[in-house]
Amino acid sequence: MTQDGVNKGRRRFLYIAAGAMGAAGAVGVATPFVKSWYPSEKAKAVGAPVSVDIGTLEAGEMRTVEWRGKPIFVVRRTQTMIDSLKSDGLMNRLADPQSEVTSQQPEYAQNLLRARSEDLAVLEGVCTHLGCAPEFRPEVEPQPFDENWMGGFFCPCHGSKYDLAGRVYRGVPAPANLVVPPYRVDGTILTIGEETA
Ligand code: FES
Repeated sequence: MTQDGVNKGRRRFLYIAAGAMGAAGAVGVATPFVKSWYPSEKAKAVGAPVSVDIGTLEAGEMRTVEWRGKPIFVVRRTQTMIDSLKSDGLMNRLADPQSEVTSQQPEYAQNLLRARSEDLAVLEGVCTHLGCAPEFRPEVEPQPFDENWMGGFFCPCHGSKYDLAGRVYRGVPAPANLVVPPYRVDGTILTIGEETA
């Protein structure tokens, strides 16, 4: 990701943040920002790790956390979502279903669900095309951009599509899966930007 791309992503992030509740209403899933920051504003500015309590994050829900000026999507996947992510019908439509582009995730997330645990997705909300923030579209139903939509993230800027593991579809402008940032989970506390205690 170039600096220019990051800046574009930031701008897009702020735009999406302003409209988050409208989007949430459309799909019936709340996507609030997590407000309980642990580090100070000064620490955040220099990219310190961010810890949030995800104990109340419900199955099927997404929250957005800011880390290093970027939106981090945190999704609690349902068992139905997990099963869908493993289906051949979806896998065959993806460019890198096995996370073989190793620069896009830490080693512990180089697996089918691109995560430390199957139920929790932690993804940078920055499209790998030109840095827009994809929209959370978890519903499994025909969409104007995909009549066989299986739930995931849609980037309206140029039409890139990702599944609920951040894996990019084939034949879209985005060249790679969404980045998985370094993170760890201790009980209900998710820390982004730090991998070990
Ligand atoms: S920035 Fe997402 S498709 Fe172009």
